[in-house]
Amino acid sequence: MRHHWLFLGACGWVLLILVFVTKFISRKAVDEYEERFGGQSSTTSELRAVKLPLSTVGKTVSQQPDQWRAQSSATPAMTEWDFVVEKRLQLLSAVCKNNSLMNLTHIPISKFVLDRIFVCDKHNILFCQTPKVGNTQWKKVLITLNGAFSGVEEIPENLVHDHEKNGLPRLSSMTPQEITHRNTTYTYNCEIPRWRECSPCRTTQLWLKTYFKFFIVRDPFERLISAFSDKFIKNPRFEPWYRHNIAPVIIRKYRRSHRDSDLAAAGLHFEDFVRYLGDVEGRRRLDRQFGEHIIHWTTYAELCAPCDIRYDVIGHHETLERDAAHILKRAAIERLVSYPSIPPGITRYNKTKIERYFSGVSKRDIRRLYVRYQGDFRLFGYPTPDFLLN
Ligand SMILES: *[C@@H]1O[C@H](CO)[C@@H](O)[C@H](O)[C@H]1NC(C)=O
Ligand SMILES: *[C@@H]1O[C@H](CO)[C@@H](O)[C@H](O)[C@H]1NC(C)=O
Ligand SMILES: *[C@@H]1O[C@H](CO)[C@@H](O)[C@H](O)[C@H]1NC(C)=O
Repeated sequence: MRHHWLFLGACGWVLLILVFVTKFISRKAVDEYEERFGGQSSTTSELRAVKLPLSTVGKTVSQQPDQWRAQSSATPAMTEWDFVVEKRLQLLSAVCKNNSLMNLTHIPISKFVLDRIFVCDKHNILFCQTPKVGNTQWKKVLITLNGAFSGVEEIPENLVHDHEKNGLPRLSSMTPQEITHRNTTYTYNCEIPRWRECSPCRTTQLWLKTYFKFFIVRDPFERLISAFSDKFIKNPRFEPWYRHNIAPVIIRKYRRSHRDSDLAAAGLHFEDFVRYLGDVEGRRRLDRQFGEHIIHWTTYAELCAPCDIRYDVIGHHETLERDAAHILKRAAIERLVSYPSIPPGITRYNKTKIERYFSGVSKRDIRRLYVRYQGDFRLFGYPTPDFLLN
């Protein structure tokens, strides 16, 4: 009996050592691969010149490790994250073509959109601002690149959002000629395979070809929770108009039952907020009244017009660390500036939190909300929150 156990134990050890050795060997191979190809492929033009093996697109890289490895040896400059980012763009492009979602995905490029886009002319970067995804940090990165400060940490917090002084112009501050100049000076060669399909070379869209264009998104419902909590509950930046001017208007129109006496004291409930957001028609008039403040809950499609402006990268908050590194590399600024460190766990999707917030909201209101934000879920590949809808 004892011999049996000893034998089993010995087998266990041998197995463990074997597993360890194979891990070590494959890790080393990956390191060598990255050293050889990853390190030198830092310029955007090189990356853009890589032809994408279309057959792998549509399958998750992590699900297809063998196939991915095989493909990667054929196209050495593509890293795993390049595939992830490219796959997102292909999905976006497909959803943009879906007729039944046109109303949610195709947004006229108005001044409102041009206001969202910040320009770093020195490095040919355009950044569309989407709240609650670490945008303050990106603005700091771009302000640093524009040259007013020597590092991200030197910039005073209050200057970041002071658009008179921070040296970060918006695209809307440019004349139409200046915008067109950004659109057309680059002689685009259709022979070179590019990240986005180039045929037909459309000029009707605001392509802004010479510029590296990006923005960041996150799960649409988690984003709304974050906006609600930030603007109506915690209010860390002391912006009194959310509680004093916006909340009472929403409560008056959307709270199911209320006595006037506790209107001001109780504050906005998430339930009221959801009902307002899901009301397509009734919301229009209020939103005009609320002005720019609606950027905190208006859809990503309305903020950045991703079906009509050809963005190069759409980062996800949930994978911000990898996306930030990727963006710096693709914009060819990784040696000039670094993205501030991200506190661990802060970007993680939290289903429990979402369930908790929506627990007091009726299914009907949640479904309406989903209809309103469906475009964002679909464009950026976030799964339908069935656990809330059914
Ligand atoms: C287009 O969107 C609708 C609504 O979400 C969906 O039912 C349909 O399957 C989509 N069509 C395609 C081709 O993806
Ligand atoms: C899109 O909006 C137009 C005008 O508001 C409306 O007539 C049309 O039915 C909408 N289409 C879809 C697919 O919702
Ligand atoms: C998720 O959210 C819940 C409720 O807000 C919180 O208690 C929990 O700590 C969060 N989990 C993580 C991993 O952040």
